[in-house]
Amino acid sequence: MKILVTGGLGFIGSHTVVELVNAGYEPVIVDDLSNSDPKILDQLAKIIGYKPVFHKLDLCDEAGVKALAVAEPDVAGIIHFAAFKAVGESVQKPLKYYRNNFYSLINLLDAYYSKPLNFVFSSSCTVYGQPEQLPVTEEAPVQPAQSPYGNTKQIAEEILKDMIASGTSSYKVVSLRYFNPVGAHETALIGELPIGVPQNLVPFITQTAIGKREKITVFGNDYDTPDGSCVRDYIHVVDLAKAHVAALKLAERDDYQGYDVFNLGTGQGSTVLEVIHAFEKATGVKVNYQIGPRRAGDVEKVWGDVTKSTNKLGWKTELGLETMMSSAWEWEKYIAQNPL
Ligand code: WQD
Repeated sequence: MKILVTGGLGFIGSHTVVELVNAGYEPVIVDDLSNSDPKILDQLAKIIGYKPVFHKLDLCDEAGVKALAVAEPDVAGIIHFAAFKAVGESVQKPLKYYRNNFYSLINLLDAYYSKPLNFVFSSSCTVYGQPEQLPVTEEAPVQPAQSPYGNTKQIAEEILKDMIASGTSSYKVVSLRYFNPVGAHETALIGELPIGVPQNLVPFITQTAIGKREKITVFGNDYDTPDGSCVRDYIHVVDLAKAHVAALKLAERDDYQGYDVFNLGTGQGSTVLEVIHAFEKATGVKVNYQIGPRRAGDVEKVWGDVTKSTNKLGWKTELGLETMMSSAWEWEKYIAQNPL
C-alpha cells in the first residue's frame, strides 16, 4: 500500500520511511527541501535497498498539490510531517509559520478530500504547555500556546477535528503528540541534521562532544526538579517512527472512525543534566558544559502518560536513554566523516 510521507526527508520523516518499508508499505516522499537534504534519498536507499519515489513540492502551492493528487491517486494513507518547527523562529516570524503550517495542511486535505484515506498528523506535546498534572494524559487541557509554532499545532488539531465533525470527509485521522524525539538509526546513515547552530539539546551535545561547539549551556538549574535543570520525556526517533506504523494500522481497522489523539513518549522524565551524563556514560566522551540563565518559553517539566498509546496503538518504546545517546553520537561521527 502506498503511503504519502510529507516532510519525508526530515529527521522523523526519514526514520518513518524506513519503518514503513519494514512493515511492507510503499512510502512516497513529498518534501520541499526547505529543512532537509535530497542526499537523504541516497542514504535511505542504503538502508531499504531502493530509492523511494520523491516529489519535490512546496505544499503551499495549491495547484502543485492538486497535481500531486493526480500523479499519486492511489495512496492508502498520508503521514503529514511537513511543517516549520523552530519555536524561537516562530516567535520572530509568526506569519511565515501560520502561512506554511496551515496552507500546507489545508491544501493537502483538500486535494485528497474525496478519498477514504488514513491521515496521521504530526502534533506535539507543546500543546500541553506546563501541565498542571504529571505525567500528562491526552485528556489534559490544552494550554494557551507559548509560541506561534505551538499554536499552529493546536489549531491544526482543531482543523482536523472540525473536518471530521462536518461529516463530509472520508478521512480517518490519528494525531500523534510527540515528546522530545532524539537519537538516530542504528546504521548511523540517517539522523538529525540541524541547520546552523542547533536549537535542540541533543544535537548541541553531540556537536560539543565532537568539537564543533566549544561548550553547551544548560539553560537554568534553579527549577523545581531533582537537579534543578528542566525535565523532558526524550523518545528514540526509531521508537517514534514505529508508532506511526502502529497509528496507520489502527486507522485501517473498520472499528476505528473519525479522530483520536495519542501521546508518544517513554512515560519517563529526564533532566538536562541526566541527559548529559547519560551521553558521557554511553559514549565515554566528556561534554564541556556550563550552567547559564533560563531560556524564555521553556516549560519546567513535562513527561507523558503513554497508557492510551500502549493500550490502543499496541505500541510502547523499547529503546532507552543510553541507546538514544549512543546512536546520536554514532550519527554525529558518521556525518563528520561523510558530509552529505
Ligand atoms: C530540551 C531541554 C532546554 C539546548 C522541542 C521542540 C518542540 C517539540 C519538543 C516538536 C530544555 C534544554 C536545550 C541547550 C539546554 N518538538 N537545553 N541547552 O524545548 O523541549 O522542545 O522538542 O514538536 O517543538 O522545540 O526541546 O531540545 O530545545 O530543549 O539546556 O543548548 O534542553 O532548556 O529544557 P524542547 P530542546
